[in-house]
Formats: sequence, C-alpha cells, structure tokens
Amino acid sequence: MSTINERKKTTVRTFLRKKQKAEKLAILTAYDYYTARILDASGLDGIMVGDSLNMVVYGHQTTLSAEMDKMLFHTRAVADAVRLALVIADMPFLSYQPSVETAILNAGRFLKEAGAEAVKLEGGIEIVPTVKRLIELGIPVMGHIGMTPQSIHRLGGPRVQGREEARYNYFLESAEALDEAGCFSCVLELMTAPLAKEITERVAMATIGIGSGRYCDGQVLVINDIIGLYQEMQPRFVRRYANVAAEIEKAARGFAEDVRSGGYPSDEESFLE
Ligand code: KIV
Repeated sequence: MSTINERKKTTVRTFLRKKQKAEKLAILTAYDYYTARILDASGLDGIMVGDSLNMVVYGHQTTLSAEMDKMLFHTRAVADAVRLALVIADMPFLSYQPSVETAILNAGRFLKEAGAEAVKLEGGIEIVPTVKRLIELGIPVMGHIGMTPQSIHRLGGPRVQGREEARYNYFLESAEALDEAGCFSCVLELMTAPLAKEITERVAMATIGIGSGRYCDGQVLVINDIIGLYQEMQPRFVRRYANVAAEIEKAARGFAEDVRSGGYPSDEESFLE
C-alpha cells in the first residue's frame, strides 16, 4: 500500500481519469479535522462534507435545517486537515435554489472561505442553468440525483427511485444534462441498479453510488454509519465496518467504574510532588 507521501493530490481530473480506466472511486463523509485527517491518510479519493451532518452530528431528523454557516464551519475544519483527497462541500437547502446569483455567492464561499475544491448540488435537469454558470466561473460541481434528501417531503420518505418509467426517464435525461453542463461527477442515491448502470454507461462524468448498486464508478457512504456511531437507522445498503458506539460506551463505563471505586487516578497518573 502506498504511503501518504507517495500519493498524488486527487483533483476533478483524477475522477474523470479513473472512470476512463475503470478504476473505482471511494468517498466518505467527514465533518471534523481529526476524522478528516485519518480518512485522508487511508487513501480515499474524496472526502465530502455532507449536509448529513445535520442528522448524524447535530441530531436533526432531516438535512433541511442545515445552514450555510454550519456547513462552512465544518468544511473549513475538514479542508484544513486534508492534503490529498478531493474536498467536496455539500450546498445546503435553499443556498442555491432561489437564484443563480445566490448559488454563485454561496458556492463561492465554500471555495473562498472554507477551502473546498468542489461543491455538490441536489437536483436534475431543472438546476442545469445554475450548474452551468458555476462551472463557467471555475467552480467544480458534483451533481446529486435519485433520492435527494433535500426533497424528502416531496418524495414521501427515503424511497428507492426510478421504478416508474417517467421517473426512470427523468433521471436519465437529468444525468445527461448535468454531464453536458460539465459536472465532473454525480451522486446517484437510492435508485435501482439497472438505472444507475445505464446512467453510468451513458455519461462521461464519474457516477458515485449510495444505495444504487455495484455498477457506479464509485461509492460514497456516511462515516458515522460505517463506524456504527450513528445508530438511529441503518439503511440496507450501509455496510458497518466497526462499532464505535459500543467502544465509546465501554470506555465511559470503565472510566465511571474506576472513578467510583477509587481506582482512577493512580499514583502514576498523579503528580505526587
Ligand atoms: O449529505 C451527505 O452526506 C450526502 C452523501 C452521503 C451523498 O449527500
């Protein structure tokens, strides 16, 4: 395995090159400096500051109330830690929908103030004029279609997308339009695997799946899900690689027991003179 010193900086061009060479891309979310530093050292292609932080860090039920300031704050912490992975900032609800101007100003803040290298926007063909303008201005854009959490109420919950013909065609058309607008990549969230496969085959941008099967060019998951820190729900597509919640509880119980029994601190853990 190559060390952090031997690896090259990942850019949006790396994403496109890896797609062409059929090399899979691996992305995880991060929201704080030290987690981002560990993830960067692990050799991921991208680290995304997702608005999922509203749920998995702040305990809200949806991503809808994530604000610009909160996203900027966490993106700055992550960007400060990351040397090699591409840092992608998620634009929160209503930070890009009202107008192209609003989108430019807010997307610009992620690059200018928070150190992000790309932004992610949810939406299909209807947001293409905004996406085009951002890219023209030098802001790399990752699209996000399928089950888009900022539309959770309109979609009626986290339901698999693309089963009806009209929706299937809408996502195909949207993916092609985002590709043509210049997106370097696009998240395909919770859509049927055949739809994700067809999109992946048709577009030049790298498709990044989450709950959309194995045919995408890469995969993204939420760090708190895969380490078992967020336990409110576990979607079928999440693979858990650790149980950090159990480890934290074990550590806290051990500490409380030692304090109560007088076992902590010991003489070695004290300054006796
Ligand atoms: O908010 C988020 O973390 C995301 C990804 C997991 C795609 O949008």
